[in-house]
Amino acid sequence: MNELKIGICGWGNVATGLYKSIHKNKKQIEAAANTKIDIIVIGARRDNPKCDPKEVNIERDIFDVLNHDIDVMVELIGGVDVARELILAAIEKGIHVITANKAVLYHHGDEIFSKAAAKNVHVLFEASVCAGTPIIKMLKEELAGNRISKISGMLNGTSNFILSQMEDGAEFDTTLKIAQEEGYAEPNPSFDIEGMDAAHKIGILSSIALGTPLPPKDFYVEGITDIDSKDFEYAKNLGFTIKHLAVASLSEKSIQLRAHPVLISLDSYLAGLKGVRNGIEIETDLIGTLHVAGSGAGQESTASGLISDLIHLSNSDISSSSTALLASEANIQPIKKMRFGYYFRIESTSGDIDLKVIESIFDDNQISINLNKFDDANIVIVTEPFIESLQEIVVTALNNLDAIVGVKTIRIEF
Ligand code: HSE
Repeated sequence: MNELKIGICGWGNVATGLYKSIHKNKKQIEAAANTKIDIIVIGARRDNPKCDPKEVNIERDIFDVLNHDIDVMVELIGGVDVARELILAAIEKGIHVITANKAVLYHHGDEIFSKAAAKNVHVLFEASVCAGTPIIKMLKEELAGNRISKISGMLNGTSNFILSQMEDGAEFDTTLKIAQEEGYAEPNPSFDIEGMDAAHKIGILSSIALGTPLPPKDFYVEGITDIDSKDFEYAKNLGFTIKHLAVASLSEKSIQLRAHPVLISLDSYLAGLKGVRNGIEIETDLIGTLHVAGSGAGQESTASGLISDLIHLSNSDISSSSTALLASEANIQPIKKMRFGYYFRIESTSGDIDLKVIESIFDDNQISINLNKFDDANIVIVTEPFIESLQEIVVTALNNLDAIVGVKTIRIEF
């Protein structure tokens, strides 16, 4: 290839970041890609005052980008339905696709990859998970000869930013506002704080490493909105901190897919990763446990992931696409059948609640506990792992006690 002709669809934060980064590091990128790199056209519904694209063609209808003579369409419009239509239209025309859009891949990945394989077109998506921190090509290439039994980590930069600020005493709402101002949070931040963004990302990683479908079934998702600063205080007293963890793991014939807050040991690798950073722990058979960490959100980090795909595309054998994913025979396990240790925070109206009554509820369900009372109003219990279906039974029994005003539970990741 003498020239890689690029069309960009979308002209927001990520797209302008890509434009600026390509120009900033052009020499180096072209040397790595072994070709000239040219942005031919941009699909922008409106101008962006933060970036002047100079002489590049502008199309107001993003689908018109595909009528230009381009090798690759970089999809940066976000969302699901229109993005799917645009990606499929590009594939149909034999145009390669690079996307940072985790939501469209989570919901329509199997359809997109099978159409791309049929048309011999590449669909590359490094920036869709952890932005520029390398993970997709690492799983597909460098780790391809390993059996992966577990991938777990903080995959939403906004949640990790909020939780680590709260760990240091900040308030949830103030920190979310900063994440929005810095461009970490999604336009609709409920995707970040309610766990769906992390679920999209672990769903994509699981499809590569464990062969689960896209969209996956039986995915348990919970966000961070119920965590408060007292939880950090109690967790710390017990040797834990709180993270939002996304997990894909394989045991015998079943796969776990889940994204929810967890207590993890303060000594663990993931506990030490603070701020907007993403961190992943990968358990493999050939090289043991591997850690990857880096910036998982923001304009420049995402641009780095997109540029790595442009370079990869330019150096790959364009006549044979590599988008086919592994298909798994294993079933995804429903959350009710999983086993977890739990943190219970039981809030009572007075300090004189009978601890024996509380202990008997756990005892009746054969759950071993360690009970702590750090102040008058709160009892904090850490349990041994038990089957998830019992959790609701125990919470209901506790809530039925007169003096109890609230019960909060968080799973523990041992
Ligand atoms: N909102 C996402 C995050 C951006 O906070 O991780 C990167 O996908």
